[in-house]
Amino acid sequence: MASSAITLILLSLSCFILLTRPSASQKTTIVQGEQLKGELSANNSLFTLRFQETAIPERDLRSYLAIYYTYESSYPVWVANRDAPVLGTSGILTIDGNGSLKILHDGGEPIFLYKVQRPSNTSATLEDSGNFVLHQVNPDGSKQVLWQSFDYPTDTLLPGMKLGINLGTRHKWFLTSRRSSVSPASGSFTFGVDPNVTNQLVIRWLGDVFWTSGPWQRGRFNLLNDSSLNEIYKFNYFSNENETYFNYSVNTAISIFPMLRINSDGDLVGFRVNGYNQEVSCSFPYAGRMIPVDGCVQQKLPECRSPEDISKFTPHDGYMSYNGFVEYSATENLTLQDCRAKCLNSCSCAAYASKYNDDTGCEIWSTTAGFRRTSSDGQRQIYFIGKGKFILVKFIFTKETFVLMQNKWWLWLTIAVGGVAIIPPVFSFCYVLWTKLKELKEKGETRIDQKTLLNELGGNATERQEEGESELHVFSFEIIATATNYFSAANKLGKGGFGPVYKGRLTDGKEIAVKRLSTNSGQGLVEFKNEAILIAKLQHTNLVRLLGFCIQGQEKILVYEYMPNKSLDFYIFVSSRKSILDWKKRFNIIEGIAQGLLYLHKYSRLRVIHRDLKASNILLDDEMNPKISDFGMARIFGLKESEANTNRIVGTYGYMSPEYAMNGIVSIKIDVFSFGVLLLEIVSGKKNNGSYHHEHQLNLIGYAWQIWNEGCGLDLLDPILKEFCPQNVLRCIHVGLLCVQYHATDRPTMSDVVSMLSNETMQLPEPKQPAFFINAVAEEPDIPDSQSDNCSINQVSISVMVAR
Ligand SMILES: *[C@@H]1O[C@H](CO)[C@@H](O)[C@H](O)[C@H]1NC(C)=O
Ligand SMILES: *[C@@H]1O[C@H](CO)[C@@H](O)[C@H](O)[C@H]1NC(C)=O
Ligand SMILES: *[C@@H]1O[C@H](CO)[C@@H](O)[C@H](O)[C@H]1NC(C)=O
Ligand SMILES: *[C@@H]1O[C@H](CO)[C@@H](O)[C@H](O)[C@H]1NC(C)=O
Ligand SMILES: *[C@@H]1O[C@H](CO)[C@@H](O)[C@H](O)[C@H]1NC(C)=O
Ligand SMILES: *[C@@H]1O[C@H](CO)[C@@H](O)[C@H](O)[C@H]1NC(C)=O
Ligand SMILES: *[C@@H]1O[C@H](CO)[C@@H](O)[C@H](O)[C@H]1NC(C)=O
Ligand SMILES: *[C@@H]1O[C@H](CO)[C@@H](O)[C@H](O)[C@H]1NC(C)=O
Repeated sequence: MASSAITLILLSLSCFILLTRPSASQKTTIVQGEQLKGELSANNSLFTLRFQETAIPERDLRSYLAIYYTYESSYPVWVANRDAPVLGTSGILTIDGNGSLKILHDGGEPIFLYKVQRPSNTSATLEDSGNFVLHQVNPDGSKQVLWQSFDYPTDTLLPGMKLGINLGTRHKWFLTSRRSSVSPASGSFTFGVDPNVTNQLVIRWLGDVFWTSGPWQRGRFNLLNDSSLNEIYKFNYFSNENETYFNYSVNTAISIFPMLRINSDGDLVGFRVNGYNQEVSCSFPYAGRMIPVDGCVQQKLPECRSPEDISKFTPHDGYMSYNGFVEYSATENLTLQDCRAKCLNSCSCAAYASKYNDDTGCEIWSTTAGFRRTSSDGQRQIYFIGKGKFILVKFIFTKETFVLMQNKWWLWLTIAVGGVAIIPPVFSFCYVLWTKLKELKEKGETRIDQKTLLNELGGNATERQEEGESELHVFSFEIIATATNYFSAANKLGKGGFGPVYKGRLTDGKEIAVKRLSTNSGQGLVEFKNEAILIAKLQHTNLVRLLGFCIQGQEKILVYEYMPNKSLDFYIFVSSRKSILDWKKRFNIIEGIAQGLLYLHKYSRLRVIHRDLKASNILLDDEMNPKISDFGMARIFGLKESEANTNRIVGTYGYMSPEYAMNGIVSIKIDVFSFGVLLLEIVSGKKNNGSYHHEHQLNLIGYAWQIWNEGCGLDLLDPILKEFCPQNVLRCIHVGLLCVQYHATDRPTMSDVVSMLSNETMQLPEPKQPAFFINAVAEEPDIPDSQSDNCSINQVSISVMVAR
């Protein structure tokens, strides 16, 4: 459902003027008697107000008057008529002769947003904050607020909005979730203050408490330790005789406009450092984890159900017949989450599904016998209370295409369940199998064992031998424990994607790096497996090499070649070590990383997207050659596939491209983006997520883009570097800026990048607008000297060095 609309730059007004020079002034206001044609746009171009159609298959075309954040065009921050959509495209926003703000449409009576008591002169303005405000304009020219969209939030909280109660008017400020990700109609979750304990936030589900923040005490929410709602979103509680409310600001580097949103499953989602983040989730599985956050209220279940049943629902694509079927009326306004609750609460329910393509409406079945899987259009996802889960685990871990299988395992489940339904004897057999496997699971036995992994890697190892490459070893736990001095703290090198990394020395003197999977990490197992399978198949001088692995009992360990010079971030960001990497070495590192990535994207047999390229994942060998490491999050990509969506967005703040952070769109261009960031970091010796402009709090990309446009590109270069070839440096910055362009299609591929870097005469296209961000409120800006009118290049002497 995530549409292709891609987007998210945070530009402040000043920055916008500074960097993109808007053409004409925007239309921000509509006045009395005027009918809105087109859209209103805030002066800072961050928000627009317009009618937007939603085309839902098999349903009438509807439109909503909505405010959109410019860089997220598929999901409005505010909707005027969420429960009263206008048919077709007939909607017109107007201020009538009396001064009332209303929507005219073909379908009947106008929809009033605000009805004036007596005729007044009014005008309505979309402000830079995203607030749409109706003012009364007095004869003396003064203005008075009559109505504002911030008082009637939809599902998105913007800075400046309130959550609370106006004690005079009893007006409450709270969010109401959407019906589904497609339908903006009111859903079943609300987020606001607790009327009894007004210094506490609550999420309610159909009126019942679903989550509470705990009371606000000493500047934090009591129940939330280490929560981003305490740490990132700086809430502020205000209370006097007239009103009591929370509002928030943000004081960390924010990559996306800092919004908070309650989604249709009742999760609180923040748009912040990593793009899209689950701040609070009480809906299973809790933001991908098995444990709910503090404050979640245990949902009541009938005696026939156990809490585990919640997790057993699995989706299948297909049709259901009308056996044992109950449909809930559309007027109940049920969401998919509500539908699941209906099914759980009805002891005979075996399956549920939403009725319409927009995930609204609800149907439940007492039997799954009428299910037919189909691949034709018009099918829908039907959630079965799953029984084949454990059979699947086997499939997942024994198929070599494990990563890809993850997406298709339900297919096998469907076949399994279908078979079960048809042949009762098979059923009993499966039952025995199921209990066996369940027992195994209960014993804590994971389905990934040495033999399985060996089988998967084994064929490969032989293959590699034929190619004359070294073989993969299986190490015993004892050897590794001895080599690392029993995983002593002194041997610890750092923390990798899924566990700590230790230095070790084998008895023959060979040094190794050992990555040990943390035993209690469920997610880590997947990443371990992913990394083991992937990296065993990859061979390139710029990729770190896997020597072997060890799986014994609970222990899962990967063994790599040891990199004596640590990782890139150890040098480029630390002033005392920066000089170790002169320009020549830095350029060599840039080229090496580009080669490694090119191999991953194009020449490896698998076509791999790394997804977490960053300075700390670039290891350096004894000659300071770069080696890309940490493939725990990498993704194998079909050769025909060019783009895919993922629900699990992983990666690191500052290195994620906008389309990935916002919409989970995965393509090789997300690595290109990260490479661009890394390149600019290597050239400048600065971290992307710092602030590098005294007024605008630009991050490194924004800063680079600004000084590039001012023609002062060399100012970006790490001042510690004294010997370099200016053309060569400028070329690197140019390539870096091409890689971080906002639109993925504008970014070059890695093979383009490699030729751009190596071919000094090649004409490069002009970089377009990059995706960069401004820190909303930075407390301690780290400001380099910034002279806007003359570049520092004139003041330093450059000793020209022949490139390479
Ligand atoms: C203005 O208000 C008067 C009295 O409430 C009403 O009769 C009239 O129809 C209104 N005019 C418009 C344009 O809505
Ligand atoms: C409303 O006020 C504005 C500004 O004072 C004025 O220009 C306009 O003519 C007034 N409109 C009406 C209908 O009185
Ligand atoms: C938008 O900019 C115009 C021109 O600078 C100005 O007249 C107007 O007041 C601004 N509007 C808002 C809402 O800031
Ligand atoms: C939050 O409310 C306080 C108290 O009214 C106010 O001073 C502050 O400016 C508000 N913050 C934001 C971001 O609107
Ligand atoms: C608030 O307190 C009253 C009285 O104790 C109680 O009846 C009501 O359910 C409470 N409301 C909420 C939302 O907790
Ligand atoms: C939160 O942290 C405080 C102090 O570190 C501790 O006393 C308290 O038990 C923690 N609360 C929860 C719910 O973890
Ligand atoms: C509360 O509202 C009343 C009426 O609007 C106003 O006179 C009073 O000053 C307000 N009190 C505070 C503390 O703002
Ligand atoms: C469903 O939503 C409509 C408005 O869209 C509302 O009138 C109706 O009362 C809602 N039904 C329930 C059961 O909440």
